[in-house]
Amino acid sequence: LTGFITIDPGYKNSGSCKSEITFLDGELGILRYRGYSIEDLAEKASFLEVSYLLIFGELPTTAELENFENNIKKHSLVNEEMKNIIDGFPKTAHPMGVLSALTSALTAFNPKAVNVDNEKEMYEAICKTMAKFLVIATWTYRKSMGYPLNYYDNTKGYVENFMQLMFQLPTGPYKASPVVIDALDKLFILHADHEQNCSTSTVRMVGSSHAGLFASISSGVSALWGPLHGGANQAVLEMLEEINKDGGDTDKFLAKAKDKNDPFRLMGFGHRVYKNFDPRAKIIKKAAQEVLETLGVEDPILDIARKLETAALEDEYFKSRNLYPNVDFYSGIIYRALGIPTDMFTVMFAIGRLPGWIAQWKEMRENKEPIGRPRQIYTGHALREFKSNK
Ligand code: SDX
Repeated sequence: LTGFITIDPGYKNSGSCKSEITFLDGELGILRYRGYSIEDLAEKASFLEVSYLLIFGELPTTAELENFENNIKKHSLVNEEMKNIIDGFPKTAHPMGVLSALTSALTAFNPKAVNVDNEKEMYEAICKTMAKFLVIATWTYRKSMGYPLNYYDNTKGYVENFMQLMFQLPTGPYKASPVVIDALDKLFILHADHEQNCSTSTVRMVGSSHAGLFASISSGVSALWGPLHGGANQAVLEMLEEINKDGGDTDKFLAKAKDKNDPFRLMGFGHRVYKNFDPRAKIIKKAAQEVLETLGVEDPILDIARKLETAALEDEYFKSRNLYPNVDFYSGIIYRALGIPTDMFTVMFAIGRLPGWIAQWKEMRENKEPIGRPRQIYTGHALREFKSNK
């Protein structure tokens, strides 16, 4: 069974789906967005170019990219009343829970459901989502720090805005270094889409009932939050910090990961599809090295990660199960070097994954797919006569 239970291949919408957006080969470790290799896109394109490619199917011309960015800027103001909602959360609330709630709440201020047959309306809704999601994602951090909430700065680019929305303080201007913006651009590209993973399938499933775009994205945020999925990048850092605190004894933690009586898993290792190296992990590992060197950051956690990876890749248990580092294994090390707090790591994943969710929701709606309704294999009781147990 491939993750969806297909009872009767003829059954309408058995749970699997067709898509033209992302191709991945788990055996060969291949990932392509609309036919372009992830290696090329990470090296040669910007995150907004890749977002446009995923959503509209082709790389944008200069004019199309400019128009896309200008429309995002046009919609970057979030209704001030949204602040009343975020004020209702305790500072200690996990940012992913706040983000999911705020994303759904955007529907209240943009009640008009997207008429998917109207190209202009669809385009506006997409730009609105790209803009407002980025702003509210950073508000979850600002709220947790007790800082004033920032506004999108229309003189800056999309990724640079992320940094100013996060770290701009009233005490003075904030300028993100080009190294940081370049690293984030690459990281967001690497997270942008990944075929029918747990959160994307959730977005398609919720959207298939014709729930709105914001409501569907909000459901994807909740699914991504889980530590087996997007929450793994936070869990990796917590695991590496635990190993570091424990004296860096990676063998002890490898043994725990192999012990069937121990629920501990090596976070950032293994994948539902990749039974080879996750191609994104290779690119992120190289980027982690470059960013730390360029920023002059000495992080013992990076050494622990390398030591753990080497040991696991040589270990029979991991080799025999085709367990390799995945996208989450190194990403947290870069986020930490960029000053992003650990509990915001999965929010970073969500910002990167947003264009993929939008693209997949749009494809499902434009293909007029029926409401999702996977079937099951019934393993319960056969018919039995009623006999009260009272
Ligand atoms: C993401 O689907 C996507 O595309 C997701 C994603 C995306 O971009 O959307 O790529 C992002 O979610 C990446 C994965 C992040 N999660 C983690 O790093 C959490 C740690 N990984 C594991 O929990 C696990 O590997 C999963 C959940 C990712 C995959 O689980 P599978 O494919 O169901 O693997 P499995 O549970 O069937 O494991 C097979 C064997 C089992 O041992 P045996 O029963 O054969 O003895 O491998 C073992 C598992 O116990 N195993 C691990 C392990 N992962 C699997 N043992 C130790 N540590 C691990 N990490």
